[in-house]
Amino acid sequence: MRLTLKFNLVLSLLFIAGISVSGVLSWKILQNNAQREVIERAGLMMESATAIRWYTINEIKPLLTLPMKKVFLPQSVPAYGATKAFGKLRDKYPQYTYKEATLNPTNLENRTVDWESDIVQYFRNNPKKQEITGVRDTPTGKSLYLARPMVVDNVACLVCHSTPDIAPKTMISRYGSANGFGWKINETIGARIVSVPASLPFKQAKKAFTAFMGSFAGVLAVIFIMMNVMLRYIVIRPVRKMSHIADEVSKGNTEIPEIPSKGKDEMSILASSFNRMRRSLTKAMEMLEKEE
Ligand code: HEC
Repeated sequence: MRLTLKFNLVLSLLFIAGISVSGVLSWKILQNNAQREVIERAGLMMESATAIRWYTINEIKPLLTLPMKKVFLPQSVPAYGATKAFGKLRDKYPQYTYKEATLNPTNLENRTVDWESDIVQYFRNNPKKQEITGVRDTPTGKSLYLARPMVVDNVACLVCHSTPDIAPKTMISRYGSANGFGWKINETIGARIVSVPASLPFKQAKKAFTAFMGSFAGVLAVIFIMMNVMLRYIVIRPVRKMSHIADEVSKGNTEIPEIPSKGKDEMSILASSFNRMRRSLTKAMEMLEKEE
């Protein structure tokens, strides 16, 4: 087997092993990162919804007490403000959805479905737990979710969520008095849940993976070419030249010039040793010829 072939075979095996190992590792890391990033963004979006809730209950609702006597204004409702603000965020991040899943809601659209009820029960049983994340199967594929408990943390909430007789009449006429009442202060009545299709972090990870592996393969290809060029100019060509000259000398051709042996690397040392040996040989031959 030729030297170049041997060298390239070993190099290729090394590169394939390197690409496979770093491929598996980087895919895992990139996927974890993408998932974390998506969940972090979901958390930020939820924070902004929470801020809107706070703003509505503390700043907007007091202003609307009077006009609310005539007509119900949903702008006074924290859940309305939060959902509206999240809807606006969705213009930019359409994959994210938000729900204030509640066991006994005012608006029946917000009632928990089976898996959401499990999350709310979990928060009710573990009051210290402030957040959970998970993956679940849906008809359209896997979905990631971030859930935080919804606690009645403000007495102002009880105006509309404790008993129908103290709630704004206009609200009762719009939503009825059957649901969304009987809540108590500090009770966990539901969960705020942001969901994202799991395909989103997968797509992000895939993009980063392709870019990373592409540039890695590019670097390896350049190393491969450079190593071959170096092998050719530093080893193969001088060795070929030497073997050609050795051939000629062995055939008795004394006219052939010496091998250039500038430099201090091993090939130059070998070349000067070879030249010295050749000179000694020629001298010995000449002496022999004279004696004859
Ligand atoms: C002015 C009355 C009012 C006040 C005050 C109020 N809410 Fe509500 N809340 C409503 C109405 C009406 C809805 C239904 C909105 C809709 O159509 O989605 C609602 C919806 C909700 C929802 C979504 C689930 C559901 O019941 O439909 C949650 C959770 C909620 N409120 C919690 C709170 C909390 C916590 C507070 C205190 C910070 C609060 N609310 C204060 C009237 C009120």
